[in-house]
Amino acid sequence: MSASHTNGNRPTSPKLRSALFTLSPFAVSHFAATLPIVEEGTLSAIGDNRRLRVGLAGLGRFGKLHAAVLAHLPGVELTALCDPLAAALEESGERYGVPANNRFTEFVTMLDDSVPALDAVFIVTPEPLHAEQAHAALERGLAVFLEKPLATSPEDGTRLLAAASGAGLPLQTGFLLRFDVQLAALKHQVDAGTLGELVTLRAKRNVSRAWFPAYGDRAHPVHETTIHDIDLFLWLTGRHCERVYAVERRLSGLRYPDVCVALLHFTGGAIGIVETSWLAPAASPANVMAGTWHGTIDAELEVVGTAGTARLRMLEGGLSIWTDKLLAQPDAGLWPDVHGQIGGALRAEVEHFVDRVRTGQPSTVASEHQALEGLHIAEAIITSAAEGHEVRLEEPSGTAHQPDRNRH
Ligand SMILES: NC(=O)c1ccc[n+]([C@@H]2O[C@H](COP(=O)([O-])OP(=O)(O)OC[C@H]3O[C@@H](n4cnc5c(N)ncnc54)[C@H](O)[C@@H]3O)[C@@H](O)[C@H]2O)c1
Repeated sequence: MSASHTNGNRPTSPKLRSALFTLSPFAVSHFAATLPIVEEGTLSAIGDNRRLRVGLAGLGRFGKLHAAVLAHLPGVELTALCDPLAAALEESGERYGVPANNRFTEFVTMLDDSVPALDAVFIVTPEPLHAEQAHAALERGLAVFLEKPLATSPEDGTRLLAAASGAGLPLQTGFLLRFDVQLAALKHQVDAGTLGELVTLRAKRNVSRAWFPAYGDRAHPVHETTIHDIDLFLWLTGRHCERVYAVERRLSGLRYPDVCVALLHFTGGAIGIVETSWLAPAASPANVMAGTWHGTIDAELEVVGTAGTARLRMLEGGLSIWTDKLLAQPDAGLWPDVHGQIGGALRAEVEHFVDRVRTGQPSTVASEHQALEGLHIAEAIITSAAEGHEVRLEEPSGTAHQPDRNRH
C-alpha cells in the first residue's frame, strides 16, 4: 500500500486497514507459481459487523446493472458513484440514495474523498481505462472488482496481478460466465470426466450490430467478446494455449474489426475455435432486455470429448414472447430482473467477490492467473489476424508469457 496516498476521511488508520487487508491468502492458489505468495492470516478482512463500503465507477449499460445488484445486496453499502456524465451520476445517485457529496466525476477523487472511506471499488468503465484505474485503487488499499477485460495488454495485466498480490488484495475480473448455472454444471461434468478427454471446443458469439458503434472504436472484439470464450476454454480445459491462428473482417469501417475467428491449440491436444461477430440484425430474437440495453447475444458453446459431447445455445431458453413489435427470448441466466432485483450470474459473481473481501478466502472459481493468460491469447489472436501467420505462446512461467511472433 502506498504511503503517498492517504485519505483523511478514512475512519480506519492505515495500520488498521493494512491489518484488515494484507493477511488475505488471496492469490495463493492461482499465482503461487508466478507471483510473490501472500501469507495466510486471519479470516475476516472487514469483519461481519458492518456493511462493505463499495464505490462504483462507470454508469453506462453494464455499470447500471452492477449498481442495481450492489444496491440490493445484503451486507453491502453502495457508498459512492463515479461517472464523468453528470446526468448518469444524478440518475443513479437519486435512484440508490447515494448522497450528492459521494457522487464524483473523477475516479481518483472518489477513491480519496468518499465519506465514509471505501473498502472496495467496482470498475465498469471503458476497457482502455481498466488498468490505470485498478492500479490507483490497489495502491490505496482497496479490493477491486474489474469488469472484463483485466487490461488491454498482457504487460498491464501482469502489473495489476503483481500489485494485487503484493498488497494482499482481492482482484477479480468480471468473467460472469463462470457463475452461470448451466456453465457451472458443464464444468462440473467436465471435471468429473463425463466427457472424457476434451478434444474440441467451439464457441460462437454473434451480438447485435446496433451495439457495434459504441464499442468498435474503443476495444478490439477479442477484448470485448472473445475474451469471455477464451476464459471459458482455459477454465474448462485447465490447459495452456500454445498456438493461435486468427483471421478478421472489417465491415463497418470502424477502428476495430467486427468479425474475428481464431483457432487455438491447447497443451494436451485440445483444439478451440472462437468466433465473434457483431452482426445480429435488429429483428433477431432479443434476449438482452435490460432497460437502456436491448438486443441479442447469440452465443453457442459445443464441447466434444472422447466420451461425450455437450452443447449450450443461449437463444434456446424456455421463454419466448411475440408481439406486433417484439420477438423476445429473455435470458434468465446472466442478469435476469427478478421482482425488481438483478439475479443470475451477475449477482452470483458480485456476491462471490464480496464474500472474498469479507472473509479473505481465496477464490475457487475466479482465476486472475487465467485472466492474464487470456490477455496473452488475445494479443496473439490480434497479432495473428493482423499479420496473417500463426503465433506461438510460451507456457506461462513467471511473467514471461509472451507471444513469439516468428512465422511458421
Ligand atoms: N461481463 C459482461 O457480460 C459485460 C457486458 C457488457 C459490458 N461489460 C464491460 O463493462 C464495461 C463497461 O461497458 P459498458 O457497455 O457499460 O460501456 P458504456 O460505454 O455503456 O459505459 C461506460 C461508462 O463509463 C463512463 N466513464 C467513462 N470514463 C470514465 C471514467 N474515467 N471514470 C468513470 N466512468 C467513466 C462513461 O461515461 C459511461 O457511462 C466494459 O469493460 C465492458 O467490457 C461486460
